[in-house]
Amino acid sequence: MKKLQKMGLALALAVGTFSAVGGALTAENVVEYRQGMMIGLSWNIGAIGTMIKGELPWNQKKVAFLAARAAQLAPMAYEGFTPETAKAKSHAKAELWDNLKDFEQRNDTMVKAVVKLAEVSGGTDEAATRAAFMDTVKACKGCHEKYQEKE
Ligand code: HEC
Repeated sequence: MKKLQKMGLALALAVGTFSAVGGALTAENVVEYRQGMMIGLSWNIGAIGTMIKGELPWNQKKVAFLAARAAQLAPMAYEGFTPETAKAKSHAKAELWDNLKDFEQRNDTMVKAVVKLAEVSGGTDEAATRAAFMDTVKACKGCHEKYQEKE
């Protein structure tokens, strides 16, 4: 349990170190990277959502598997919101760049929620798993409402 929490923190701390890797990529590539990471996150969280909604039968092991993968992905998209992408075509709203602190905090909140979901789903408490899922989705939605351009 504690291990996952530490891992999430280690990944969050690694962000600064990794940003230099993006240097070989164009701003458009970096946008694709972060969008791809968001989609990967959505792939796993969405699959849990089908069980939350009862479209698929509840399977605690499967939820734990998907949540563990999501916990790995959760901090990654954030790394792609680099200053050089501010002018690139994307669905990030312009005001994101004036509110980087808030954006970072919302990202941290989401990462913590996903890490908690991974921890809790590793146990046997379905109700706690469902609650952790709701917290996660709330964190996704809150940030999207503020910083993601709707088509
Ligand atoms: C800190 C803010 C923030 C959080 C938290 C966040 N997102 Fe996003 N998300 C964004 C922004 C900004 C974009 C638009 C990115 C772009 O177009 O470059 C986006 C885009 C997306 C996309 C569309 C990708 C595409 O371009 O096709 C998906 C899917 C997505 N997010 C899923 C999620 C899920 C699932 C979560 C929660 C587990 C989540 N996001 C949490 C900010 C956030």
